[in-house]
Amino acid sequence: MAYLRWRRFLELAALDRPWVGETFMRRGGEGPGARPAAYWNGLHDGEYDRLLKSDQRHHHRLLAALISEAAIQPRVLDIGCGEGVFFDSLRPFAPAAYLGVDVSDLAIAKAKARIADHGARFTTGDGARYEAGSERFDAIVFPECIEYLGDPIALIDHYARFLAPDGVIGVTQWLGLKPLRIWRAVRDHTEVVDEAVVSAPWGGAWQVWSCRPKGTSAR
Ligand SMILES: C[S@@+](CC[C@H](N)C(=O)[O-])C[C@H]1O[C@@H](n2cnc3c(N)ncnc32)[C@H](O)[C@@H]1O
Repeated sequence: MAYLRWRRFLELAALDRPWVGETFMRRGGEGPGARPAAYWNGLHDGEYDRLLKSDQRHHHRLLAALISEAAIQPRVLDIGCGEGVFFDSLRPFAPAAYLGVDVSDLAIAKAKARIADHGARFTTGDGARYEAGSERFDAIVFPECIEYLGDPIALIDHYARFLAPDGVIGVTQWLGLKPLRIWRAVRDHTEVVDEAVVSAPWGGAWQVWSCRPKGTSAR
């Protein structure tokens, strides 16, 4: 806990001061990155049960409220949906449509077994380049998964065409020095609508933001 709080101090200081992050960052690669489906199936075989706990989901609640304020009863595409945990926070806002995509077939099987709501759909697919066909969404969200999906700018550009007019991209990510590089890249490439940091009493914290690809805002 004390360590997490010290880290938090550093990470908050680094939010808008890249040099702080680069000075204190542990060396050793760029962070987790892309992994094969078998790796994710292993985590969804028990270890990721913790992601369902209430005190692990405050970031989902804020993101669900942000995107539902931007569009009442939003149509939502949830990339890296895992076992459908974000849907638990979105459900009170009565989304008009919901599609969850994850590379782990085990996660998708668990999501389907857990969530029987009429209208919630789940499918297996690579979230780095999922093709949504002619469907359009008021929000495309990446809760705790953007760091596994490759170049964040290419990702935003790929999904921009599946957004409805004035639609938003929503992201949550663990507040960490390496993930802050992703935040800065996306911030500079988009129009940020809202940004916040959500902390849990046990010491964990997440960044939450919504943004629009540049030039797509009707407001
Ligand atoms: C930390 S978990 C987060 C799960 C869920 N979004 C949540 O917030 O609880 C990361 C998720 O990303 C998924 N994932 C990783 N790489 C992926 C990819 N290339 N395409 C789709 N999903 C992926 C994993 O299977 C896992 O469910």
